[in-house]
Amino acid sequence: MKNDLYLRAARGEATERTPVWLMRQAGRILPEYRALRARLSGFKELVETPELAAEVTIQPIDALDVDAAIIFSDILVVPDAMGLPYEMVEARGPLFPTVIKSAADVDRLRIADPEESLGYVLEALRITKRALNGRVPLIGFAGAPWTILAYMVEGHGSKTFSKARGMLYKEPALAHRLLDKITATTIAYLQAQVAAGAQVVQVFDSWAGILPPAHYAEFSTRYIGQICAALAPLVPVTVFAKGAWWAVEDFAALPCRTIGLDWTENPAAVRRVVGDKTLQGNLDPCALYGTRDQVKAATQAMLRQFAGGPHIANLGHGVYPDTDPDSVRVFVDTVKEWRG
Ligand code: CP3
Repeated sequence: MKNDLYLRAARGEATERTPVWLMRQAGRILPEYRALRARLSGFKELVETPELAAEVTIQPIDALDVDAAIIFSDILVVPDAMGLPYEMVEARGPLFPTVIKSAADVDRLRIADPEESLGYVLEALRITKRALNGRVPLIGFAGAPWTILAYMVEGHGSKTFSKARGMLYKEPALAHRLLDKITATTIAYLQAQVAAGAQVVQVFDSWAGILPPAHYAEFSTRYIGQICAALAPLVPVTVFAKGAWWAVEDFAALPCRTIGLDWTENPAAVRRVVGDKTLQGNLDPCALYGTRDQVKAATQAMLRQFAGGPHIANLGHGVYPDTDPDSVRVFVDTVKEWRG
């Protein structure tokens, strides 16, 4: 490994400087991504063509000089593999033409065999790993079961996810059966990602923050815990739960090495609760709309808040599509120059 800073920080080891990467660095902001994407029929073609997915995974390593690569894919490939296909609607986002409403719908879903149904992601990981040739570590990922359930029940993005949240009150047993199936698929899928070359895995719980804390413990942390327990013996695991600041004590008890923070969280306070775990985050993606000097100052202020323990610099959520790649470079360079 030529640059293993990220991997060492993810294991909790000391590093000469803070490693840095960005959630959603592959795609969205890079002109070379948009050029490639414009030649294709759509997002799914890119995700399902391993050579192209590998190319897009490596673009930010060349363009932004970040310390880790994250495989280009989507969290929604899991419901797809379970028998609930998604479409990616131009300028609108994901759409499931059929959704989960009943016990019969849950029964029809399969616990997917990753080699059979997600072989294209595994092949993309193998190609990427070879092409990276040890430049930086390769991150695999999946959605947390609650966030996947939210899309499977709602059918598309939503401010409230009221159908999905409603299911937790109206039919908790059905929700648990669905979460069990998603969790089993996700564990097998992440294990297969590791076998295919992923050196760390991150679990994205993008819709954590819309649940009441008691429901979050029952319908999300419990399943994230099962994923961590299955994966932690293989690779370091990062859990990023957006908006779930009240779950930090529960995360402290999970067998994951790294906890991702969104920009509303206070790193020093989290550090006091989670002890020696590595923290990842948490610059507000909007900070990148500033001038060079403003981006630099905001990044340094963020870095100062993480003093006192292992840290992987990142944004507090995915980089926004209208961000200037030059601002991202200022962010990355500021982290690299920092000696806190
Ligand atoms: O981090 C990376 O760069 C790797 C690639 C990646 C994508 N999606 C590619 C993508 C990752 C890690 C994801 C995760 C993902 N997908 C999450 C969790 C992280 C988060 O942002 O909270 C979620 C909730 C999704 C579901 C999803 N996929 C949505 C809501 C959308 C539409 C809005 C958007 O993000 O652009 C997608 C589409 C998607 N996934 C795109 C990309 C590059 C844009 C598609 C395009 O090129 O047209």
